[in-house]
Amino acid sequence: MNILILGGGGREHSLAWAVLQNPKCDRLIVAPGNAGIALIADCAALDIMDGGAVVNFAEEESIDFVIIGPEAPLAAGVADRLREAGILVLGPGADAAQLEASKAFTKEICDAAGAPTAAWARFTDAESARAHVIEKGAPIVVKADGLAAGKGVVVAMDIDTALAAVDDMFSGSFGAAGAEVVIEEFMQGEEASFFVLCDGKTVLPFGTAQDHKRVGAGDTGLNTGGMGAYSPAPVMSDEIVQTTLDRIVLPTMAEMARRGTPFQGVLFVGLMIENGQPRLVEYNVRFGDPECQCLMLRLGAQALDLMLACARGQLAKARVNWADDHAMCVVMAAPGYPEAARTGDLIGGLDAMTGDSFAMMFHAGTARQDGRFVVAGGRALGATARGDTLAQARARAYAMVDAVEWPGAVVRRDIGWRALG
Ligand code: AMP
Ligand code: GLY
Repeated sequence: MNILILGGGGREHSLAWAVLQNPKCDRLIVAPGNAGIALIADCAALDIMDGGAVVNFAEEESIDFVIIGPEAPLAAGVADRLREAGILVLGPGADAAQLEASKAFTKEICDAAGAPTAAWARFTDAESARAHVIEKGAPIVVKADGLAAGKGVVVAMDIDTALAAVDDMFSGSFGAAGAEVVIEEFMQGEEASFFVLCDGKTVLPFGTAQDHKRVGAGDTGLNTGGMGAYSPAPVMSDEIVQTTLDRIVLPTMAEMARRGTPFQGVLFVGLMIENGQPRLVEYNVRFGDPECQCLMLRLGAQALDLMLACARGQLAKARVNWADDHAMCVVMAAPGYPEAARTGDLIGGLDAMTGDSFAMMFHAGTARQDGRFVVAGGRALGATARGDTLAQARARAYAMVDAVEWPGAVVRRDIGWRALG
């Protein structure tokens, strides 16, 4: 079959790699892709936010299956346009993508479904939001309601920071995303990412991972898109997975179906676990990045079969065959990331890295200039490796990092510290 993947990050490179392991894939196109993806698949320039353009392209190229990587085209209804055109697609329509695109929507669904999450309130003006912050005190969490590329959340440890975040969001620095602000109770605990596939009826658990959101060692400094991940996440015991399904995921999916907007696609369940009890931090309606890089390296060829079963509504018969293995991804980011990433640096040593099912250098923000790789985005590379133990996966991942000739790269040296000590 002919497959089209939308997106151009490390997540999409790992999806492309996994799809190519499966003999069902005859031809793969990634739009827009990146310089690393171009080594293994055709890349196409296409406006992936334009549903009509995506449908036309898919028809011209006789595409049988479309995998949508990032949230923005999902929230813009690209999956709806593809389904209307009769093209098989992995990803929710715009209505169900509200689970990521509006934090207040998700909180309402949680309340209706009885799913445990932080206490919350929503505001459309700065004055009442400020009054609420002062009433509740710090620590407290201030969030722009809409999509803000992972930057619309301020975890404020003191009231002044929270008030500044309120003013900042209502002053328009997040555009339409900040027209409404959600203020939440601060939750303590350990975070974990839990993935499920849902075909509108059946929910299939699809693995666990732990991300490292802060830029600095020991989880300090600014929030980023994610500086590294590993899978599985030991904190997600079988018991916590079951509690998460029973109390959070299944009631949410039932509530979405009840509203006439069943969810079909990958649901990323961001959790805070305290004293063995999971609470929802957020939903995303797609794979996490870098978590996806770990999941894809572990799953290999079966990832495509599972994504197809999800898109076809056949998850009731599907199951995931996990090996007893571990994977780790270490992100290499541009100097200045996440605030002001400096692009354009040359990256050497990548041509020698051919990769295999144990160690892959996935590209995120790279481009080719005069035949050489250059940095083209904040997060440039994801050194991802698999092993019998997490320590082995870590050793392989950092060996790849150390072989890259890019002196200015921002790299966390402590990925996996919670699991490995
Ligand atoms: P979000 O974009 O909602 O995932 O928020 C980004 C990050 O902020 C999360 O991964 C958490 O680390 C943190 N966070 C969000 N909401 C809360 C909360 N209510 N309590 C504590 N930390 C939070
Ligand atoms: N790694 C977190 C995310 O993709 O949002």
